[in-house]
Amino acid sequence: MAERPYIVGNWKMHGLRAMLPEARAIDRGAQRTMKVEVAIAPPATLIHAVYREVEQIGVGAQDCHGAAEGAHTGDISAAMLADAGAKFVILGHSERRQNHAESDAVVQAKVQAALDAGLKIILCCGESEAVRDSGKAVEFVVAQLRASLPAGLEQAGERLTIAYEPIWAIGTGRTPTVDDIGEMHRAIRALTVELFGSDEAERIRILYGGSVKAENARELLGADEVGGALVGGASLTAESFLGIVLAASELQDA
Ligand code: PGA
Repeated sequence: MAERPYIVGNWKMHGLRAMLPEARAIDRGAQRTMKVEVAIAPPATLIHAVYREVEQIGVGAQDCHGAAEGAHTGDISAAMLADAGAKFVILGHSERRQNHAESDAVVQAKVQAALDAGLKIILCCGESEAVRDSGKAVEFVVAQLRASLPAGLEQAGERLTIAYEPIWAIGTGRTPTVDDIGEMHRAIRALTVELFGSDEAERIRILYGGSVKAENARELLGADEVGGALVGGASLTAESFLGIVLAASELQDA
């Protein structure tokens, strides 16, 4: 695992202001485990409130528009997210790719817009079950990443995190084997070396996401080239989320 594992909670479309105490509890827990970098991405409506509520953990967003500003009713720009207190944005999540028909080109424009606004990126990738069954998962994910990353991205080690999330593992309780995760993460690492050179590439954290919980975190985080986790359902309570943070911290000690 990476020197300082990165555990990120993706609250998706969950959370009213009544959930702010949960964010505070996650923050307090994270302060006791400084060996692990912890962040949450609440819904856009809560970014500023969570940002004001916490001291230690990072706060980020779940999406942004690909343009800097303009006539886009209902959309939110990267600069607006930064202004609300976000330091990073999750882009290319499979739920956005599926539910909002986001192509790789759309995701690529969003990555560029977010970088231009000074946000860090968590770029998601992952194959469907059909692609996994066809034996072409690695090929698919590498091509998806190539097409979603902007050309000439500088300081990639500082600004980019990649999250591998097989679609069939998200919210299902099913997870790939540690060997399959390792195979995918090694391929993603090799791609980053090709694109950014080895110095930048080795600083890029590659997270695993999909049904991570306290009970399986140790095993999943122990897979080859896994630098942390992107957590959906189990990030919604401080108790379950901090269980994952603790597992990451124990692995550091092991
Ligand atoms: P899950 O979601 O942990 O609920 O499977 C992960 C994600 O979609 O980021």
